[in-house]
Amino acid sequence: MKKQALLAKIHRSLITSHRLLVTGYWLLVTGSLVGCSGTATVFPTPIAVAELPTTAVSAINTPTLAANVPVLPTATLSPVATVATVGETAVFTNRSIGDPYTPELGNLGYDVQAYTIALTLDPADPRVQQAATTLDLVITDPTLTELSLDFVGFTDVAVSSGATPLSFRREDDKLLVELPQPLAAGTPFGLTVRYGGEPTRRQSPYVGFVESLGLTFANGMVYALAEPDGARFWFPANDHPRDKAFYRFELTVPEGLTAVANGTLRETKPTTLPNGRSATTFTWQHDYPMASYLAVIAVGEFERIEATSPQGVPLRHYVAAPVREDFRRVEAVTGEALDWLSGLLGPYPFETFGFVTVDAPQVALETQTLSIVSFESVGARTAVHELVHMWFGDDVSLHSWQEMWRNEGFATYFELLWQMRGESAEALDARIAEMAGAVAQNGAGYPLGNPPPAQLFGFNTYFEGATAVHALRRQLGDEAFFAGLRLYFERYGGGTASDADFQAVMEEVSGQLLDPFFAEWLQ
Ligand code: ARG
Ligand code: ZN
Repeated sequence: MKKQALLAKIHRSLITSHRLLVTGYWLLVTGSLVGCSGTATVFPTPIAVAELPTTAVSAINTPTLAANVPVLPTATLSPVATVATVGETAVFTNRSIGDPYTPELGNLGYDVQAYTIALTLDPADPRVQQAATTLDLVITDPTLTELSLDFVGFTDVAVSSGATPLSFRREDDKLLVELPQPLAAGTPFGLTVRYGGEPTRRQSPYVGFVESLGLTFANGMVYALAEPDGARFWFPANDHPRDKAFYRFELTVPEGLTAVANGTLRETKPTTLPNGRSATTFTWQHDYPMASYLAVIAVGEFERIEATSPQGVPLRHYVAAPVREDFRRVEAVTGEALDWLSGLLGPYPFETFGFVTVDAPQVALETQTLSIVSFESVGARTAVHELVHMWFGDDVSLHSWQEMWRNEGFATYFELLWQMRGESAEALDARIAEMAGAVAQNGAGYPLGNPPPAQLFGFNTYFEGATAVHALRRQLGDEAFFAGLRLYFERYGGGTASDADFQAVMEEVSGQLLDPFFAEWLQ
């Protein structure tokens, strides 16, 4: 269905329920403005809004909060001295991975194979006691004399390769490390960055609704949130999804606390902190390609809950006591939804899945194999939304951050399909029409394929994104649509894909030329 036709249809059929929707959003918005801590008290009042996916809360809040939180002017977004302009064309040096939407992120000349992130943390003291991140990389540019990494803040920084100290400097948000000599393409190179101290806190130009990304110390917990540009605030990285790697975490925390991360727990070992206190080192490992923004850690008091999906995928959750009861609703759906998604999209891409709950302002993030959710966000819909991201975002990541509609549009759409499974095609069409109506009324009107940075997680990204997905499904028919999605994961799983790659797969399976469709929806 064409966008214009769809919108016209909504205007005809939903003129009255619009009013309800808008009232609903305003109630919600007003609720959060006057500081209602739980939007849930306001959310269920209007009928139509209550039926929208829960992520609506954060998405709806985005434009609202943008009014309160200072949004950085565009000119100061990316202080990247390394992206020169020659005529009209941006010229990227090795200090950018070449994503025109985020030229400040990522680097070229090498390919990270694995990160080992060793951190000593105490939630009672908002500093990294000590840290050492080791990057095992392979040189890809034989002329490279200086490695560029994304890394912001910290003190006592030292860089070495094996026993050899390496010269380095800090420039803008890069850590520039001198190579002892140029190395042939394909040469493995290991380097360790030691650091400590208080993390830098700075608002991301892409995320108006949290104060800062990176490590947060709050209420007896420590956790990391990084989408899209926050990994560099807690470990040195090639901080862009185009360079995926394996991860190992060695997390040392005071005795009695639990430290979690992506993948599987390999070892728990008693140790002693420099101050003589008893501590435990938790070693976690994830040997599947993972984008830097999907790396997560959390430290706190958690109950470990183990289960398996009906079809045998191992699940493990780390749940804090205050949300133990609420979390039963998540446990009730996770395994079943995981198997249901596997049936539609292809096998679950990783070794395990689960959630960790943290005492944070309302947030949920699809951190690979261990999705992080704040206490307020514990619920079945958010759980399914983050689970969908294991395919859309995690297994196949965005080639450019500009393409966020593919992450959030699909997550929102499949969250809705789960909720409406067993209902008729007409009921789904009606719900999508309702959603499109909400977009027409509340959306910021930016092109889906090119959101302004402050709107990267805006209303349109989620809801116009989901209506675009549905329109594509209706245009291709179910057979081609789902076959196309499965082919997309087969082909691009473990890596990234662009909008053009996605379009090409859908054209291949359907035999349709989709230029007009994507021009209509994305531009
Ligand atoms: N990708 C997240 C979701 O599931 C949104 C994350 C927004 N928050 C952030 N800190 N980047 O909808
Ligand atoms: Zn999402």
